[in-house]
Amino acid sequence: MEKRRPHIFYVDGELTIRGIKLSDIASAYGTPLYVIDLDRVVERYDEVASSFRSVKINIAYAYKANSLLAVTKTLAMRGSGATVVSSYGIKVAKISGVESPKIVLDGPSKSDDDIEEAISSEIGLINVESRDELDTIEKIASRQKKKARVGIRVNLGLRAGAHPKIMTGGRSHKFGVSEREAVKLFALAAKMDSIKPIALHSHIGSQINDLSVFRAEAAKLVSIALEIHKKGLEVPVLDLGGGLGVSYAGEKAISYREFASAVTDVIRNAYEENGMSTPELVIEPGRYIVADSTVLLMRVNYVKKLGRRRWLLVDAGMNDFIRPAMYGAKHEIIPVRPREGTEVYSIGGPVCESSDVFADRIKLPMVERGDLLALLDAGAYGISMASNYNIRPIPAVVVISAGEVKLARKRDSLEHILAMEAW
Ligand SMILES: Cc1ncc(COP(=O)(O)O)c(C=O)c1O
Repeated sequence: MEKRRPHIFYVDGELTIRGIKLSDIASAYGTPLYVIDLDRVVERYDEVASSFRSVKINIAYAYKANSLLAVTKTLAMRGSGATVVSSYGIKVAKISGVESPKIVLDGPSKSDDDIEEAISSEIGLINVESRDELDTIEKIASRQKKKARVGIRVNLGLRAGAHPKIMTGGRSHKFGVSEREAVKLFALAAKMDSIKPIALHSHIGSQINDLSVFRAEAAKLVSIALEIHKKGLEVPVLDLGGGLGVSYAGEKAISYREFASAVTDVIRNAYEENGMSTPELVIEPGRYIVADSTVLLMRVNYVKKLGRRRWLLVDAGMNDFIRPAMYGAKHEIIPVRPREGTEVYSIGGPVCESSDVFADRIKLPMVERGDLLALLDAGAYGISMASNYNIRPIPAVVVISAGEVKLARKRDSLEHILAMEAW
């Protein structure tokens, strides 16, 4: 039994999720196909939850990582909150069973509709990213005769993340407001009739494997909270965002247990020393909870040699899984039924773009036309970023839960792809 992940292992030369053969699932549902181990999602969520036993916390799962109802409903049943970035996101969170006070709305350019929905749904927190936005919230909340709970998103000038496109915390990025502006906006918000400022928020970036960045984030947020305290106001909530990385290709990832012990003491001690009561925390993990739960199954259409490369041309493309093309991400890809011998292969999809490549020159057991491959750790920013580019159907998704295999999302049909056309 060769383990590739705690829940993904070979049994008698066949790749399985907890003993269920992936070749059987591919035969039943076709490829490309996402297969999610829902029990693994729950294990990861529970690990996060147990890391924060000593504090009051809202684990507001970031829906952008994977917003399939199979996932969001499962997490809501475990008690998760939701981080969303649109009015539809708020609605999906409610449909999933998340209680409104646990819903967080983020985003640097919210529409009036997003804000209307957030206020009428009485969600727990709207993280504000500009003075203009604060004024807009005040107007909409006043019209609705409600009091909006807001946080101020601070741009802490911390640059971290595995790729420039997933860094968000630097001064050159569009997110949040400066530390000085945050203090001003918080004080201004406190004077507004229809706004209750409760939080400071930051999200530095994604796929971060360096604990010191999160320590710095916590320390900086605390120091801004103290500035605000000196003005006679309190910050009862700190929202530390998401961003913890996972191990895609053997990198050393940090755990939420380490994160919790690094940040909670910094926060608690500073608050206590200054006579403030310990704040409630919000975290917004996405990738950490769902990434390793999922494989993307693909079938090899053709094998060919061109120049120095031996290509495996598979039936999944960048429209199905964009992380390698967009972020240069490296994912482990392994055969579902490994053959004898080895060869060095590059793996490309059907889309006519040179970036539609999943791997460049990796060593694999010999592969033939018709063989099945599994791309690992496909659970975060996989199906949620899939598109119909090249008029290709978004793949089907199945879940495995308590030993049962169930369809979670149908494969797109041509009718579905054309449904919104008005011509
Ligand atoms: C504001 C915000 N919160 C949370 C997340 C989730 O990040 P991750 O999936 O890295 O945990 C993101 C993703 O980029 C985000 O932009």
